[in-house]
Amino acid sequence: MSIEKTLSIIKPDATSRNLTGQINSIIEKSGLKIIAQKRIKLTKDIASRFYEVHKNRPFFQDLVSFMISGPVVVQVLQGDDAIALYRQVMGATNPEEAEAGTIRKQFALSIEANSVHGSDSTDNANKEISFFFAETELYES
Ligand code: CMP
Repeated sequence: MSIEKTLSIIKPDATSRNLTGQINSIIEKSGLKIIAQKRIKLTKDIASRFYEVHKNRPFFQDLVSFMISGPVVVQVLQGDDAIALYRQVMGATNPEEAEAGTIRKQFALSIEANSVHGSDSTDNANKEISFFFAETELYES
């Protein structure tokens, strides 16, 4: 096991239902530490750049529109095997396939409005964290 950092986003469907605290509680109970967090407004340009890897997928425009439809909370989570652990804690992308007890099983409304995002690899975690956070915002402990 190694200490890793991963990027999490609490999406507009969850912030609009006032679920940030409940989601953070699940994150903290899993052993992950929230070492940075901010509630922000994404623009079309920022959301398009963040999800650039999906730009040729049929759902891309809808995904960008959804991500700018309300505030998001971007956060950096740290812990043992944080990337894989957070993906377990989130559950499958499609909430219909998510396991009981996961964030998406409890809160997601659809594959698009699926409440949270988490990085899927070490490379992407590093890229996604530096997309939203400066080094000075990351106080590792
Ligand atoms: P996320 O982990 O943020 O990464 C890309 C997002 O695209 C994904 O979660 C989903 O919310 C969204 N999405 C919308 N439609 C689909 C789809 N058909 N397949 C995969 N992801 C989708």
